Amino acid sequence: MTSSNTVWHPATIKRQDREKLHHHKSAILWFTGFSGSGKSTLAHAVEDYLHQKGISTFVLDGDNIRKGLCNDLGFSDADRVENIRRISEVAKLMLESGTMTLTAFISPFKSDRMTARNLMPEGDFLEIYCCCSLDVCEQRDIKGLYKKARAGEIPFFTGIDSIYEPPEKPELIINTDKQTLEESVALIIEHLRYKQFF
Ligand code: ADX
Repeated sequence: MTSSNTVWHPATIKRQDREKLHHHKSAILWFTGFSGSGKSTLAHAVEDYLHQKGISTFVLDGDNIRKGLCNDLGFSDADRVENIRRISEVAKLMLESGTMTLTAFISPFKSDRMTARNLMPEGDFLEIYCCCSLDVCEQRDIKGLYKKARAGEIPFFTGIDSIYEPPEKPELIINTDKQTLEESVALIIEHLRYKQFF
C-alpha cells in the first residue's frame, strides 16, 4: 500500500544552513563497478582523506547495507533495482543533511544510476566508475565469490550470469587495475576541489 495521505513537512533548517555549519558543500560520490573492482576500498580511502580535512562524511557500502536496510533483497534484477532505489533515497537524505556521501554499490544498471542522479540537484551527483576488467576482478577474488559463482554456487553473479552496464559519461573514471590507491584518491580529491565542494 502506498502512503497517499501524507503531507510533506518542510524543514526550517535547510541544506544550505547545514553546509554552512559544516563549512563545506555536500555531494554524492557514487562509485560503481564490478565486485572486487575497488569501490569500497576507494570510497573508504577518500573518506579517510576528507575526514582528516574536517569534512563530514559517510560511506554507504553494498555488503553492509545488505545486512540491514536491504537484508530482504537478493540479486535478481528486480531486487537490485529495489536495492539501488532504497540507497538512492537514503543518499538523497544524507545529501540534505549536508554530509559528503560516498556510495559503493555495483549498481549494474544504467537506468538505476540515472534515476539516482535525477533525484539529486544538478551537479551534486558524481558518478565514479571503478574501471577494472572482469579478468582482474576474478583473479583478485578477494571474497572468493567468483570461484563460487563459476562453480554454480552463486546464481546471477555480476559479470558471469548477470549483466553490468558500464557508465557512458561518468564524472570520473578510475582505472583501479592500473592506478595505485593513492593516485586514485588524489584524482577524486582534485575533482572535488576543482568543483569547489570544499
Ligand atoms: S547491486 O548489484 O545490488 O548493486 P551490491 O553492491 O548491493 O549489488 O552488493 C554486491 C556485493 O554482494 C558484492 O560485492 C558481493 O560481495 C556480494 N554478492 C553476493 N551475491 C552476489 C551476486 N550474485 N552478484 C554480485 N554480488 C554478489
